[in-house]
Amino acid sequence: MQNRGDDLVVKVRDLRKVYDLGDSQVVALAGIDLDIHHGEFLAVMGPSGSGKSTFMQITGLLDNPTSGSYWFEGTDVSHLDRDARADIRSRRLGFVFQAYNLLPRTSALENVELPMVYAGIPAEERRRIAIEKMKLVGVDQLADHAPNQMSGGQQQRVAIARSLVNNPGLILADEPTGALDTKTSEDVMRIFTELNEEQCITIMLVTHEPDIAAHAKRIVTFRDGHVVSDTLRLRRFAPPLRMTRVGRFAPPLRMTKWR
Ligand SMILES: Nc1ncnc2c1ncn2[C@@H]1O[C@H](COP(=O)(O)OP(=O)(O)OP(=O)(O)O)[C@@H](O)[C@H]1O
Ligand SMILES: [Mg+2]
Repeated sequence: MQNRGDDLVVKVRDLRKVYDLGDSQVVALAGIDLDIHHGEFLAVMGPSGSGKSTFMQITGLLDNPTSGSYWFEGTDVSHLDRDARADIRSRRLGFVFQAYNLLPRTSALENVELPMVYAGIPAEERRRIAIEKMKLVGVDQLADHAPNQMSGGQQQRVAIARSLVNNPGLILADEPTGALDTKTSEDVMRIFTELNEEQCITIMLVTHEPDIAAHAKRIVTFRDGHVVSDTLRLRRFAPPLRMTRVGRFAPPLRMTKWR
């Protein structure tokens, strides 16, 4: 594996994903170039079918690209086999899903401990780390509750605690507020913001909602498998600045810019 020594969490170049359906092909990603630095908080937006989840799956090493390059934390991970991807996933990546994906009939604490079971961490340390992460997102008092004994927002916070236990280099969240009401969504976004600002955790999340994306520091918009805009926000709720190709700031544009 080639080490590029870059201070980047994610670096992709001309990343393509084509799904072969036998008699036809679907181009889900049509050549993505993107850099994500340590400590960024990035929202991915774009219409349905524009390639957001495909991009998250490849970035999260759940799938390989058809072509192009992907370096994760400086290592070329473009064409790893399933086991090598799973190894990096369990050590360096955290996932949060729209449907929480907690095991039913299993306590919140055990759900949070689960990635550490796979990583072979001893029971006592697992418990200590799980409780620490649950405290961080304010659900430690729910340790004994099963998923069906918690609200949607509480379940999502447990899922966020679970995503944190291996101290991931990157948290990927695909529509994490998609099943939540507005107020609960705001609570969950506040937690992501705190994790990013206070723990310096790098976060990339997919959302359809501008109000949710407004919590991120950077908004990348996909369309037809391409990145069509990439805007930086210096402060939350400040007008976004457009990043030019050379990395300078252009005058503010309207937030949603479809090409
Ligand atoms: N496993 C698959 N097999 C075939 N085609 C797929 C597969 N997964 C995604 N696609 C296609 O790839 C394109 C991109 O899909 P993707 O799920 O990445 O979109 P998305 O931006 O996440 O959409 P949404 O906002 O609806 O979640 C779509 O045309 C989709 O139908
Ligand atoms: Mg999707």
